[in-house]
Order: sequence, then C-alpha cells, then structure tokens
Amino acid sequence: KILILDFGSQYTQLIARRLRELGVYCEIHPCTASADAIRAFKPRGVVLSGGPASVLAADSPRADKVVFELGVPVLGVCYGLQLMAHELGGKVGNAAHREFGPATIDASSACELFQGLPPRLDVWMSHGDRVEALPPGFEPVASTPSAPYAAVEDRRRRFFGVQFHPEVVHTPRGAELLKNFAYAVCGCSGQWSMRAYVDVAVEQIRAQVGPDGHALCALSGGVDSAVAALLVHRAIGDRLRCVFVDNGVLREGERAQVEEVFGRMFHLPLVTADASKRFLSKLAGVTDPEQKRKIIGREFIAVFEEQVEEFARHGERADFLVQGTLYPDVIESVSFKGPSATIKSHHNVGGLPEVMKLGLVEPLRELFKDEVRRLGLELGLPKEIVQRQPFPGPGLAIRVLGEVTEERLSILRKADTIVQQEIRAAGLYEQLWQAFAVLLPVRSVGVMGDERTYENTCAVRAIESTDGMTGDWARLPYDLLARVSSRIINEVRGINRVVYDVSSKPPATIEWE
Ligand code: XMP
Repeated sequence: KILILDFGSQYTQLIARRLRELGVYCEIHPCTASADAIRAFKPRGVVLSGGPASVLAADSPRADKVVFELGVPVLGVCYGLQLMAHELGGKVGNAAHREFGPATIDASSACELFQGLPPRLDVWMSHGDRVEALPPGFEPVASTPSAPYAAVEDRRRRFFGVQFHPEVVHTPRGAELLKNFAYAVCGCSGQWSMRAYVDVAVEQIRAQVGPDGHALCALSGGVDSAVAALLVHRAIGDRLRCVFVDNGVLREGERAQVEEVFGRMFHLPLVTADASKRFLSKLAGVTDPEQKRKIIGREFIAVFEEQVEEFARHGERADFLVQGTLYPDVIESVSFKGPSATIKSHHNVGGLPEVMKLGLVEPLRELFKDEVRRLGLELGLPKEIVQRQPFPGPGLAIRVLGEVTEERLSILRKADTIVQQEIRAAGLYEQLWQAFAVLLPVRSVGVMGDERTYENTCAVRAIESTDGMTGDWARLPYDLLARVSSRIINEVRGINRVVYDVSSKPPATIEWE
C-alpha cells in the first residue's frame, strides 16, 4: 500500500484515484501525520502531494522527516518535489516566471518512472517556485527549456520528484508514470479492489463511531446516501437509524421504492417521516424559486429534528450524522487551511450537524461518483438505485413553476413518469445525466376531438453532462420525442402541449428554478 501525504493540493485526491484505478491500495493522510503514524502505516511507497504553499515561507507545511528514513521509495509531486529538495539539502528559489499549464518535457527512459514512455511527453505544469540546486545524490531525469529539473531522481535511495502533475488528465501519459512508480518502483501488485475498500471503510467507521456510538442517516433515495447508509450499517449494525422524509414533492413511487429496498431488502432500521402535508402548507402561495428552496430546506431540518427528539423519547441517542458527501463536494478547497479544507457541505442537509451538534460521518468523501456506484454494486444495491440519475433535494417543487399545489404536482408526476419510462425503453437512461419533465405556468389553446382546450404546457429536459457543472441538451431522436409528447398529451389530463428544452448550461441551468 502507498501513503499519500496531503499538502493541500486540489489534485491530491486524483493521485489516490489514479492509484486505485491501478488496483493499488492507498490512503491520504494530512502532511502533519506523526512519525509514529507514518511508520505504523508500513507503506511500500510514499507520495508527497502538491500544494499551494511555498517551501520558502516559514510557516509552510512540512512532513515529518521520517518519510525519508523508512527505506521505501518516495515520489514528490510539485510542492512535494520542492519540499524534498529543500529538506534533503538542495535549494529552492522563486522562478523568474511562474509556469502554469501545458509543457513538453524531454525525459530519460533510463529512469524507472519513464520506462515504456516516449522521450518527449506532454505534461501539466503548475508551480511558482522551482528547484535551483539538487540535493546530494540527485540527478535530473527530465527537463523543459525553462525547468531544468522537471523530474529528478536519487537512484540509490529511490527518491523521485516531478515538477508537473502526473495525476491530471492534461498529462496524458501520467497514469503510466504513476503505474511505473507503484508497480516497478514500489513493487505493488495491483490486486486491490472495491471489495477491499468496503473492509477498510467499515473499519474506519467503527473506529470513528466507537464501540457504543449511535448514528443517524437521512436517506434521500439517491445513490450517495444509500451507499453511505449501507456502509455504516455494515460497520455498526442497528446503532444506525435511517430517516426518510416524505416531503410531498417526491416522484411517483419513490417512497415505496425506498421503503422496499432499504426496509425490506436490506433491513435498515428505517423510519419514514410523513411530512407531505406540512411541506405543502408551507409552500402554499409561494412562487419565488429561492423562497421555495429555503422553505424546503428549513422544513427538512425541522422534521428531522423532531424525529430525533422522538428517538430520544424512546431512549435512543444520536452522536453522529451520516452524510453522503462525495469528493467533488470537498474538492473546492483552494487555500491551505489545514489539509484539504471543506468548503461546502452537502446542500440538502446543510446546517443539520451544526444545529444538532452531531459529529459527521462521511464515508464517501474520498470517492468520485462512479466509484460510489461501483461500491454500491459491491454492497448489493439494485442497479435501479445505483444508476439513478440525480434528483434535487427540493424535488418536484422546483419543477412545478409557480405555485406548488397537490393538483399541479399530480399532473407533473404523471408526465415525469412517462418521460422516465420512454427514456429507459429507448436505452438512454444511463447515458443521460438527467431527463425529466417540468410543468410550466403557461396555458395555451389546443383542440382535442372537436373540443377547444386551454391547458398547461409541459417542458421536457434531457441533459448530457459528466458532473452537472456544465451540460448540453441531449439530441434525442425525433421519434422518441414524438412518443413522449403524444403519450403525455393523451395520457395526462391537464396538459395539451409539450415543448423540448434546447438550452445548454451555461447559460441556462439544468433545473428551471
Ligand atoms: P442546476 O440547476 O444548478 O443543477 O444546473 C445542477 C445539478 O444539481 C442538481 N440540483 C440539486 N441537487 N439539491 C440537490 O441535491 C439541490 O438543491 C439541487 N439543485 C439542483 C440538479 O438536478 C442538477 O443535477
């Protein structure tokens, strides 16, 4: 296994991801890890991550020198390289010009890191400082015209440093470099898998929650909270309590599915809080999108708190809240405030832990979405949940434009069900980021049989995206659109017109509100 020491780079997690893709087990620890902790980890190799600080600054983060005394290979990336140079007797200075972005290096294939790679490599540079004199024992193994020490090695001690980022996709052959480090240099075998990750995660949760701690989890029906809950359940059994809040703005069949899968299939201790009346009465008369979101967020916290009080009345306490926070929610750490500072917590349950003074258990905070999905399959979650498209916390309330009423929700639910069915039948569900219906506050004239109609308009939205940050409208086949349109108009009372949304994000957002 490989130990990654984090100096606060936004790319640290990508190093772990690349290594895991290679089947190599690794853990990220803060650079402040103690000498004992580092020794106890017994790594086969150590990676020193990048970071935004300058080793020239007095208060810049350092790693315990023990990493250089373990007798195992060390790879310094960017800041990690500079730190290694600085600590081992070299010299680091401010570069005359900072180098950020693409560069081409000339690399020596005699170095184990570059074995099997072409002599010229495109890489992604990002540094302000640069190494000016190498420590004793080191020699350069790659350079660019402006960076004579783009990569260096100490062949005897097997210390390596690269000034560029092999972990990002802008270094196209970077994964091979990391593979050389892990397999050839450190002797890792590539046997690690998601199955093994389950055991590690379960151990970590047990250690955090302790032998008699209790935890709560708000299940949303989505894949993240589901996987988080299953992991925690595996770790602490029925000391976990799950709460599913029916907020009245769910889609058709959603509550039944959650109760079926988590209650009956997995036997999670699950309570459904039926709060639909209460949410809808708070939403009555409200048309402003932000107001709707705030009301739903506030009400969710209130319902959840009441549920916890209810547990307490039965003598069940709670010490921790389980959240399905993923790495992209954490990654927006740009400044060095202690390794990888959290900037954003999950927006659906934001505020809960502060209000309730609970500790946080976030077993997915090192994973990306596709890894969470693989983990879900490993835990036996059905494919329908694992592959589920994202669904916003405020639910259908932000897809019924204008006032949210029972009647309008019911119309939207029927239309949305048809969209879901047809997208699945066309085999496109897993390819699309999202596909859904929106009920517009617009009525228009139509004709059905010999009758004039004056009814609602429904917009269909289908989006291609990899992360929801940007997206393009999906070029759905016309005959699919035709089927969706004619089914909605024929089967859903109250809709006589269907339009297709052809706006990309940006400048439009995915949701209409
Ligand atoms: P927008 O509309 O901002 O949405 O382009 C981007 C992605 O985020 C989802 N979304 C939410 N998800 N709580 C969530 O969990 C929310 O309040 C929320 N608002 C938007 C949206 O469905 C899309 O996938």
